[in-house]
Amino acid sequence: MSHHIVRRLTALARNGVLTHFLSLSAQDIWMRFGHAIQESVLRNYVSTMDFDADAVFGVYDGGLVPVGVAHMAIAGDSAEVGLSVLARARKQGIGAAMLEQAIRHGKSLGLKKITVLCLQENSGMRRLAEKFFMETTSEGREVEADLELLQSPSDAAGQPSPGTVPPVP
Ligand SMILES: CC(C)(COP(=O)(O)OP(=O)(O)OC[C@H]1O[C@@H](n2cnc3c(N)ncnc32)[C@H](O)[C@@H]1OP(=O)(O)O)[C@@H](O)C(=O)NCCC(=O)NCCS
Repeated sequence: MSHHIVRRLTALARNGVLTHFLSLSAQDIWMRFGHAIQESVLRNYVSTMDFDADAVFGVYDGGLVPVGVAHMAIAGDSAEVGLSVLARARKQGIGAAMLEQAIRHGKSLGLKKITVLCLQENSGMRRLAEKFFMETTSEGREVEADLELLQSPSDAAGQPSPGTVPPVP
């Protein structure tokens, strides 16, 4: 079990989330979004991030800037999750902890499917998808990793998902 605490973030964390994204290298941004994006576009992405309708999760290491951010964009009965972990905090299980939390959250909402998109060459994200038994399909330079969320009886009864951490900024 992961020792990382994954928090559901509120809009009060927006500045920290922006600093997180601005701390990523150009290569990380390329991997995260599938293409290069200008800083103004990144700023706009974070400023329009909907912390209520969507879900944004973060992992902190003691500072005000999250070392890991997962944005779960919810549309209908499915969600697309985008993950990023600062370079210094990688390969410590933070990406896996956030994806696990997004899956729990998706189940608690009764969603049917979670999707992560990444580039073919993104071995880290592909390994992560494999760990969670996500089904992958490739199209061109992109890989789509899908996880069908099977609802357990307690999920169906609307029970809170285990391990959910209350929202904090
Ligand atoms: C992809 C990313 C989120 C992974 O985060 P992370 O915190 O390092 O992931 P974890 O530590 O939970 O690792 C999960 C698994 O992937 C493996 N892994 C992580 N990075 C890897 C890499 N670059 N190459 C191969 N395997 C890798 C880990 O070893 C682990 O596997 P294991 O449990 O069998 O040892 C991170 O590398 C990142 O932020 N990359 C830039 C943005 C991005 O690519 N986002 C994904 C597209 S949305």
